[in-house]
Amino acid sequence: YEIYLNGLAGVLPALPTDLTRLEALAAERLAPGPFGYVAGSAGSGRTERANREALDRLRIVPRMLRDVSARDLSVEVLGRTLSAPLALGPVGVLSIVHPDAERAAARAAAAQGVPFVLSSASSTPMEDVAEAMGDAERWFQLYWAKDREVTRSFLVRAKAAGYTALFVTLDTPLLAWRPRDLDQAYLPFLKGVGTANYFTDPAFLAGLAKPVEEDLNAAVLHFVGMFADPGKTWPDLAFLRENWDGPIVLKGVQHPDDARLAADAGMDGVVVSNHGGRQVNGAIGAADALPAVARAVGDRLAVLFDSGIRTGDDVLKALALGASAVLLGRPYAYGLGLDGQAGVEHVIRCLLAEFDLTLALSGHSRPGELGPQSLQHVP
Ligand code: FNR
Repeated sequence: YEIYLNGLAGVLPALPTDLTRLEALAAERLAPGPFGYVAGSAGSGRTERANREALDRLRIVPRMLRDVSARDLSVEVLGRTLSAPLALGPVGVLSIVHPDAERAAARAAAAQGVPFVLSSASSTPMEDVAEAMGDAERWFQLYWAKDREVTRSFLVRAKAAGYTALFVTLDTPLLAWRPRDLDQAYLPFLKGVGTANYFTDPAFLAGLAKPVEEDLNAAVLHFVGMFADPGKTWPDLAFLRENWDGPIVLKGVQHPDDARLAADAGMDGVVVSNHGGRQVNGAIGAADALPAVARAVGDRLAVLFDSGIRTGDDVLKALALGASAVLLGRPYAYGLGLDGQAGVEHVIRCLLAEFDLTLALSGHSRPGELGPQSLQHVP
Protein backbone atom coordinates (compact mmCIF):
# COMPACT_ATOMS: atom_id res chain seq x y z
CA TYR A 1 0.00 0.00 0.00
CA GLU A 2 2.82 2.34 0.86
CA ILE A 3 4.16 2.19 -2.69
CA TYR A 4 0.68 2.94 -4.14
CA LEU A 5 0.09 5.82 -1.72
CA ASN A 6 3.51 7.29 -2.43
CA GLY A 7 2.77 6.89 -6.14
CA LEU A 8 -0.42 8.95 -5.75
CA ALA A 9 1.70 11.65 -4.11
CA GLY A 10 4.16 11.46 -7.00
CA VAL A 11 6.92 9.75 -5.00
CA LEU A 12 8.39 6.84 -6.91
CA PRO A 13 10.58 4.08 -5.41
CA ALA A 14 14.31 4.86 -5.68
CA LEU A 15 15.04 1.38 -7.07
CA PRO A 16 12.94 -0.89 -9.29
CA THR A 17 10.29 -3.01 -7.57
CA ASP A 18 11.02 -5.78 -10.09
CA LEU A 19 14.16 -7.10 -8.40
CA THR A 20 15.28 -8.91 -11.55
CA ARG A 21 16.14 -5.46 -12.93
CA LEU A 22 18.71 -4.73 -10.20
CA GLU A 23 21.57 -6.52 -11.90
CA ALA A 24 21.30 -4.46 -15.09
CA LEU A 25 21.04 -1.27 -13.05
CA ALA A 26 24.09 -2.27 -10.99
CA ALA A 27 25.99 -2.99 -14.22
CA GLU A 28 25.27 0.60 -15.28
CA ARG A 29 25.99 2.34 -12.00
CA LEU A 30 28.73 0.36 -10.21
CA ALA A 31 32.36 0.34 -11.31
CA PRO A 32 33.27 -2.74 -13.40
CA GLY A 33 35.45 -4.30 -10.66
CA PRO A 34 32.83 -4.26 -7.88
CA PHE A 35 30.04 -5.24 -10.28
CA GLY A 36 32.11 -8.14 -11.65
CA TYR A 37 32.93 -9.34 -8.13
CA VAL A 38 29.21 -9.68 -7.27
CA ALA A 39 27.92 -10.82 -10.65
CA GLY A 40 30.73 -13.25 -11.40
CA SER A 41 30.45 -17.00 -11.21
CA ALA A 42 32.57 -20.08 -11.89
CA GLY A 43 33.81 -20.91 -15.37
CA SER A 44 31.43 -20.13 -18.19
CA GLY A 45 28.51 -19.49 -15.82
CA ARG A 46 26.64 -22.74 -16.50
CA THR A 47 25.73 -23.41 -12.87
CA GLU A 48 24.47 -19.89 -12.32
CA ARG A 49 22.21 -20.35 -15.36
CA ALA A 50 21.17 -23.82 -14.14
CA ASN A 51 20.01 -22.21 -10.87
CA ARG A 52 17.62 -20.00 -12.80
CA GLU A 53 16.55 -22.76 -15.18
CA ALA A 54 15.71 -25.09 -12.29
CA LEU A 55 13.45 -22.46 -10.70
CA ASP A 56 11.95 -21.38 -14.02
CA ARG A 57 10.95 -24.95 -14.92
CA LEU A 58 8.71 -25.00 -11.86
CA ARG A 59 5.34 -23.31 -12.17
CA ILE A 60 2.97 -22.46 -9.35
CA VAL A 61 -0.53 -23.95 -9.63
CA PRO A 62 -2.89 -21.41 -7.98
CA ARG A 63 -5.96 -22.53 -6.02
CA MET A 64 -9.07 -20.35 -5.59
CA LEU A 65 -11.66 -19.50 -2.90
CA ARG A 66 -9.53 -20.46 0.07
CA ASP A 67 -9.92 -17.48 2.43
CA VAL A 68 -6.47 -15.94 2.34
CA SER A 69 -7.48 -12.82 4.29
CA ALA A 70 -5.31 -13.58 7.35
CA ARG A 71 -1.77 -14.53 6.48
CA ASP A 72 1.14 -15.49 8.71
CA LEU A 73 4.59 -15.67 7.06
CA SER A 74 6.42 -16.85 10.17
CA VAL A 75 8.44 -20.07 10.24
CA GLU A 76 10.36 -22.07 12.83
CA VAL A 77 14.05 -22.39 11.98
CA LEU A 78 16.82 -23.66 14.28
CA GLY A 79 14.59 -23.39 17.32
CA ARG A 80 13.65 -19.79 16.59
CA THR A 81 10.56 -18.16 15.16
CA LEU A 82 11.40 -15.99 12.17
CA SER A 83 8.85 -13.40 11.05
CA ALA A 84 9.37 -14.53 7.45
CA PRO A 85 11.21 -17.41 5.74
CA LEU A 86 14.17 -15.20 4.77
CA ALA A 87 17.67 -14.28 5.93
CA LEU A 88 20.43 -12.29 4.28
CA GLY A 89 23.12 -14.80 3.30
CA PRO A 90 26.85 -14.35 3.84
CA VAL A 91 28.52 -12.16 1.21
CA GLY A 92 32.20 -11.40 1.79
CA VAL A 93 34.02 -8.06 1.54
CA LEU A 94 30.96 -5.87 1.07
CA SER A 95 33.16 -2.77 1.32
CA ILE A 96 33.85 -3.41 -2.35
CA VAL A 97 30.33 -2.27 -3.28
CA HIS A 98 29.62 0.33 -0.58
CA PRO A 99 31.69 2.04 2.14
CA ASP A 100 29.06 1.24 4.81
CA ALA A 101 29.50 -2.42 3.85
CA GLU A 102 28.33 -5.10 6.33
CA ARG A 103 27.14 -2.57 8.88
CA ALA A 104 24.58 -1.19 6.42
CA ALA A 105 23.40 -4.63 5.32
CA ALA A 106 23.15 -5.84 8.92
CA ARG A 107 21.22 -2.73 9.98
CA ALA A 108 18.83 -3.23 7.08
CA ALA A 109 18.24 -6.84 8.12
CA ALA A 110 17.68 -5.81 11.74
CA ALA A 111 15.27 -3.03 10.71
CA GLN A 112 13.26 -5.46 8.59
CA GLY A 113 13.32 -8.25 11.18
CA VAL A 114 15.22 -10.83 9.16
CA PRO A 115 18.40 -12.57 10.39
CA PHE A 116 21.77 -11.52 8.97
CA VAL A 117 24.47 -14.09 8.24
CA LEU A 118 27.86 -12.41 8.54
CA SER A 119 30.65 -13.76 6.32
CA SER A 120 33.99 -14.77 7.82
CA ALA A 121 35.47 -12.66 5.01
CA SER A 122 33.68 -9.57 6.30
CA SER A 123 35.36 -6.25 5.67
CA THR A 124 34.06 -5.16 9.09
CA PRO A 125 35.11 -6.89 12.33
CA MET A 126 32.31 -9.14 13.54
CA GLU A 127 32.05 -7.25 16.84
CA ASP A 128 31.31 -3.96 15.03
CA VAL A 129 28.57 -5.60 12.95
CA ALA A 130 27.07 -7.06 16.11
CA GLU A 131 27.04 -3.64 17.72
CA ALA A 132 25.26 -2.17 14.68
CA MET A 133 22.54 -4.82 15.02
CA GLY A 134 21.64 -4.38 18.70
CA ASP A 135 19.87 -7.52 19.84
CA ALA A 136 18.62 -8.52 16.36
CA GLU A 137 19.13 -12.11 15.24
CA ARG A 138 22.56 -12.76 13.70
CA TRP A 139 24.35 -15.86 12.50
CA PHE A 140 28.04 -16.31 11.71
CA GLN A 141 29.38 -17.98 8.56
CA LEU A 142 32.66 -19.79 8.98
CA TYR A 143 35.29 -20.34 6.34
CA TRP A 144 36.94 -23.22 8.07
CA ALA A 145 40.57 -22.13 8.39
CA LYS A 146 43.53 -24.47 8.16
CA ASP A 147 44.79 -22.98 11.39
CA ARG A 148 42.82 -24.46 14.30
CA GLU A 149 43.63 -21.56 16.58
CA VAL A 150 42.14 -19.07 14.14
CA THR A 151 38.98 -21.18 13.85
CA ARG A 152 38.74 -21.48 17.62
CA SER A 153 39.29 -17.74 18.00
CA PHE A 154 36.53 -16.96 15.46
CA LEU A 155 34.11 -19.22 17.35
CA VAL A 156 34.91 -17.59 20.67
CA ARG A 157 34.56 -14.09 19.19
CA ALA A 158 31.30 -14.96 17.43
CA LYS A 159 29.76 -16.40 20.57
CA ALA A 160 30.82 -13.38 22.64
CA ALA A 161 29.37 -11.03 20.02
CA GLY A 162 25.95 -12.70 20.15
CA TYR A 163 25.92 -14.71 16.92
CA THR A 164 23.54 -17.55 17.74
CA ALA A 165 24.13 -20.05 14.90
CA LEU A 166 27.17 -21.15 12.95
CA PHE A 167 26.97 -21.62 9.17
CA VAL A 168 29.96 -23.64 7.95
CA THR A 169 30.55 -23.24 4.23
CA LEU A 170 31.71 -26.55 2.74
CA ASP A 171 31.74 -25.72 -0.95
CA THR A 172 34.81 -23.49 -0.83
CA PRO A 173 37.80 -25.64 0.16
CA LEU A 174 39.49 -23.72 -2.67
CA LEU A 175 38.41 -20.65 -4.58
CA ALA A 176 37.04 -21.68 -7.96
CA TRP A 177 38.15 -20.63 -11.42
CA ARG A 178 36.31 -17.32 -11.68
CA PRO A 179 37.13 -15.67 -14.99
CA ARG A 180 35.53 -12.35 -14.12
CA ASP A 181 37.85 -11.88 -11.17
CA LEU A 182 40.85 -13.34 -12.98
CA ASP A 183 40.41 -11.28 -16.14
CA GLN A 184 40.18 -8.09 -14.13
CA ALA A 185 43.30 -8.99 -12.17
CA TYR A 186 41.05 -8.01 -9.37
CA LEU A 187 42.47 -8.51 -5.87
CA PRO A 188 40.08 -7.02 -3.35
CA PHE A 189 41.97 -8.45 -0.43
CA LEU A 190 44.97 -6.32 -1.25
CA LYS A 191 42.95 -3.36 -0.06
CA GLY A 192 43.67 -4.58 3.45
CA VAL A 193 40.36 -3.40 4.86
CA GLY A 194 38.81 -6.18 2.80
CA THR A 195 39.64 -8.73 5.43
CA ALA A 196 39.35 -6.72 8.63
CA ASN A 197 37.61 -9.63 10.30
CA TYR A 198 40.88 -11.58 10.03
CA PHE A 199 43.23 -8.65 10.40
CA THR A 200 41.78 -7.87 13.84
CA ASP A 201 41.87 -11.46 15.04
CA PRO A 202 44.47 -12.14 17.76
CA ALA A 203 45.14 -15.72 16.62
CA PHE A 204 45.56 -14.61 13.00
CA LEU A 205 47.86 -11.75 13.97
CA ALA A 206 49.95 -14.09 16.13
CA GLY A 207 50.81 -16.05 12.98
CA LEU A 208 52.36 -13.03 11.22
CA ALA A 209 56.09 -12.32 11.31
CA LYS A 210 55.48 -8.55 10.96
CA PRO A 211 52.46 -6.33 11.75
CA VAL A 212 49.93 -5.93 8.93
CA GLU A 213 50.88 -2.25 8.43
CA GLU A 214 54.52 -3.17 7.87
CA ASP A 215 53.99 -6.01 5.42
CA LEU A 216 50.53 -6.06 3.91
CA ASN A 217 51.52 -8.51 1.18
CA ALA A 218 52.74 -11.09 3.68
CA ALA A 219 49.53 -10.67 5.69
CA VAL A 220 47.40 -11.16 2.59
CA LEU A 221 49.37 -14.25 1.59
CA HIS A 222 48.99 -15.64 5.11
CA PHE A 223 45.25 -15.09 4.80
CA VAL A 224 45.02 -16.74 1.39
CA GLY A 225 47.02 -19.74 2.61
CA MET A 226 44.85 -20.46 5.60
CA PHE A 227 41.34 -19.13 4.93
CA ALA A 228 40.12 -22.54 3.79
CA ASP A 229 41.41 -26.10 3.93
CA PRO A 230 41.02 -28.60 1.08
CA GLY A 231 42.13 -31.39 3.41
CA LYS A 232 39.05 -31.44 5.63
CA THR A 233 36.79 -34.53 5.83
CA TRP A 234 33.58 -35.41 7.67
CA PRO A 235 35.21 -36.57 10.95
CA ASP A 236 36.72 -33.08 11.32
CA LEU A 237 33.23 -31.76 12.12
CA ALA A 238 33.68 -33.16 15.63
CA PHE A 239 36.06 -30.26 16.34
CA LEU A 240 33.35 -27.72 15.50
CA ARG A 241 30.71 -29.63 17.44
CA GLU A 242 33.00 -29.58 20.50
CA ASN A 243 33.79 -25.88 20.17
CA TRP A 244 30.35 -24.45 19.36
CA ASP A 245 27.38 -25.14 21.59
CA GLY A 246 24.70 -23.52 19.38
CA PRO A 247 23.16 -24.78 16.13
CA ILE A 248 25.56 -25.68 13.31
CA VAL A 249 24.37 -25.52 9.72
CA LEU A 250 26.40 -26.86 6.78
CA LYS A 251 26.19 -24.58 3.76
CA GLY A 252 26.74 -25.91 0.27
CA VAL A 253 25.19 -29.37 0.56
CA GLN A 254 23.84 -30.70 -2.75
CA HIS A 255 23.76 -34.52 -2.46
CA PRO A 256 21.30 -36.33 -0.17
CA ASP A 257 24.07 -38.59 1.11
CA ASP A 258 26.03 -35.52 2.28
CA ALA A 259 22.88 -34.32 4.03
CA ARG A 260 22.64 -37.69 5.81
CA LEU A 261 26.31 -37.43 6.81
CA ALA A 262 25.57 -33.98 8.22
CA ALA A 263 22.75 -35.38 10.34
CA ASP A 264 24.92 -38.29 11.49
CA ALA A 265 27.65 -35.81 12.53
CA GLY A 266 25.23 -34.08 14.91
CA MET A 267 24.66 -31.01 12.77
CA ASP A 268 21.45 -29.02 13.04
CA GLY A 269 20.83 -27.96 9.46
CA VAL A 270 22.00 -27.71 5.88
CA VAL A 271 21.78 -25.00 3.25
CA VAL A 272 21.17 -26.50 -0.16
CA SER A 273 23.35 -24.14 -2.15
CA ASN A 274 25.98 -24.07 -4.87
CA HIS A 275 27.32 -20.70 -3.76
CA GLY A 276 25.31 -18.98 -6.47
CA GLY A 277 27.13 -20.96 -9.15
CA ARG A 278 30.46 -19.51 -8.07
CA GLN A 279 32.27 -22.78 -7.33
CA VAL A 280 31.60 -25.77 -9.66
CA ASN A 281 30.85 -24.88 -13.26
CA GLY A 282 28.40 -27.34 -14.82
CA ALA A 283 26.82 -28.35 -11.50
CA ILE A 284 23.21 -29.24 -10.81
CA GLY A 285 20.87 -26.27 -10.35
CA ALA A 286 20.35 -25.78 -6.61
CA ALA A 287 16.55 -26.09 -6.86
CA ASP A 288 17.03 -29.42 -8.67
CA ALA A 289 19.12 -30.64 -5.72
CA LEU A 290 16.69 -29.49 -3.04
CA PRO A 291 13.87 -32.10 -3.13
CA ALA A 292 16.16 -35.11 -2.63
CA VAL A 293 17.94 -33.42 0.29
CA ALA A 294 14.63 -32.42 1.89
CA ARG A 295 13.34 -35.99 1.53
CA ALA A 296 16.56 -37.42 3.02
CA VAL A 297 16.86 -35.23 6.13
CA GLY A 298 13.84 -32.92 6.32
CA ASP A 299 12.63 -34.68 9.46
CA ARG A 300 16.05 -34.51 11.17
CA LEU A 301 17.57 -31.18 10.09
CA ALA A 302 16.58 -27.64 9.19
CA VAL A 303 16.78 -27.45 5.40
CA LEU A 304 17.51 -23.98 4.04
CA PHE A 305 18.07 -22.95 0.45
CA ASP A 306 19.90 -20.38 -1.65
CA SER A 307 21.28 -19.85 -5.17
CA GLY A 308 19.02 -18.14 -7.65
CA ILE A 309 16.39 -16.52 -5.41
CA ARG A 310 15.40 -13.27 -7.12
CA THR A 311 11.64 -12.80 -6.59
CA GLY A 312 8.79 -13.64 -4.24
CA ASP A 313 7.65 -16.55 -6.37
CA ASP A 314 11.16 -18.06 -6.15
CA VAL A 315 10.82 -18.05 -2.36
CA LEU A 316 7.46 -19.81 -2.65
CA LYS A 317 8.93 -22.47 -4.96
CA ALA A 318 11.87 -23.19 -2.63
CA LEU A 319 9.52 -23.66 0.32
CA ALA A 320 7.22 -25.89 -1.73
CA LEU A 321 10.27 -28.03 -2.57
CA GLY A 322 10.97 -28.56 1.12
CA ALA A 323 13.06 -25.63 2.38
CA SER A 324 11.98 -23.94 5.59
CA ALA A 325 13.64 -20.62 4.68
CA VAL A 326 15.86 -19.08 2.00
CA LEU A 327 19.01 -16.99 2.03
CA LEU A 328 19.40 -14.03 -0.27
CA GLY A 329 22.72 -13.32 -2.03
CA ARG A 330 23.39 -11.09 -5.02
CA PRO A 331 20.13 -9.07 -4.96
CA TYR A 332 20.90 -7.49 -1.60
CA ALA A 333 24.53 -6.88 -2.58
CA TYR A 334 23.21 -4.92 -5.59
CA GLY A 335 20.75 -3.08 -3.34
CA LEU A 336 23.66 -2.14 -1.07
CA GLY A 337 25.83 -1.00 -3.97
CA LEU A 338 23.03 1.10 -5.45
CA ASP A 339 21.57 2.72 -2.34
CA GLY A 340 23.32 1.59 0.87
CA GLN A 341 21.17 0.47 3.80
CA ALA A 342 18.02 1.87 2.13
CA GLY A 343 18.74 -0.21 -0.95
CA VAL A 344 19.03 -3.41 1.10
CA GLU A 345 15.80 -2.58 2.94
CA HIS A 346 14.09 -1.97 -0.39
CA VAL A 347 15.17 -5.41 -1.61
CA ILE A 348 13.96 -7.18 1.55
CA ARG A 349 10.62 -5.37 1.55
CA CYS A 350 9.89 -5.93 -2.13
CA LEU A 351 10.82 -9.60 -1.90
CA LEU A 352 8.65 -10.22 1.14
CA ALA A 353 5.70 -8.18 -0.20
CA GLU A 354 5.81 -10.13 -3.45
CA PHE A 355 6.11 -13.42 -1.56
CA ASP A 356 3.13 -12.54 0.65
CA LEU A 357 0.97 -11.63 -2.36
CA THR A 358 2.03 -14.67 -4.39
CA LEU A 359 1.32 -16.92 -1.41
CA ALA A 360 -2.17 -15.47 -1.06
CA LEU A 361 -2.98 -15.33 -4.77
CA SER A 362 -2.06 -18.98 -5.15
CA GLY A 363 -4.44 -19.93 -2.32
CA HIS A 364 -2.15 -20.24 0.71
CA SER A 365 -2.15 -18.41 4.04
CA ARG A 366 0.98 -19.85 5.63
CA PRO A 367 4.32 -21.25 4.42
CA GLY A 368 3.42 -24.57 6.06
CA GLU A 369 0.63 -25.09 3.50
CA LEU A 370 3.11 -25.20 0.63
CA GLY A 371 4.23 -28.53 -0.75
CA PRO A 372 4.73 -30.49 -3.97
CA GLN A 373 1.01 -30.04 -4.72
CA SER A 374 1.63 -26.27 -5.08
CA LEU A 375 3.91 -26.76 -8.10
CA GLN A 376 4.01 -28.32 -11.50
CA HIS A 377 7.26 -29.23 -13.20
CA VAL A 378 7.37 -28.09 -16.82
CA PRO A 379 9.99 -29.97 -18.85
C1 FNR B 1 28.97 -15.07 -1.87
N1 FNR B 1 28.70 -16.21 -1.13
C2 FNR B 1 29.39 -16.44 0.03
N2 FNR B 1 29.10 -17.53 0.80
C3 FNR B 1 29.75 -17.75 1.96
O1 FNR B 1 29.45 -18.75 2.62
N3 FNR B 1 30.71 -16.87 2.40
C4 FNR B 1 31.05 -15.77 1.69
O2 FNR B 1 31.90 -14.99 2.11
C5 FNR B 1 30.40 -15.55 0.45
N4 FNR B 1 30.74 -14.47 -0.31
C6 FNR B 1 30.01 -14.20 -1.46
C7 FNR B 1 30.30 -13.06 -2.19
C8 FNR B 1 29.52 -12.73 -3.30
C9 FNR B 1 29.80 -11.47 -4.05
C10 FNR B 1 28.46 -13.57 -3.69
C11 FNR B 1 27.57 -13.23 -4.86
C12 FNR B 1 28.19 -14.72 -2.99
C13 FNR B 1 27.60 -17.10 -1.53
C14 FNR B 1 26.27 -16.61 -0.96
O3 FNR B 1 26.22 -16.81 0.44
C15 FNR B 1 25.09 -17.39 -1.58
O4 FNR B 1 25.30 -18.77 -1.45
C16 FNR B 1 24.89 -17.05 -3.04
O5 FNR B 1 25.06 -15.67 -3.25
C17 FNR B 1 23.50 -17.47 -3.51
O6 FNR B 1 23.37 -17.30 -4.88
P1 FNR B 1 22.66 -16.03 -5.55
O7 FNR B 1 21.27 -15.96 -4.99
O8 FNR B 1 23.48 -14.84 -5.24
O9 FNR B 1 22.67 -16.35 -7.01
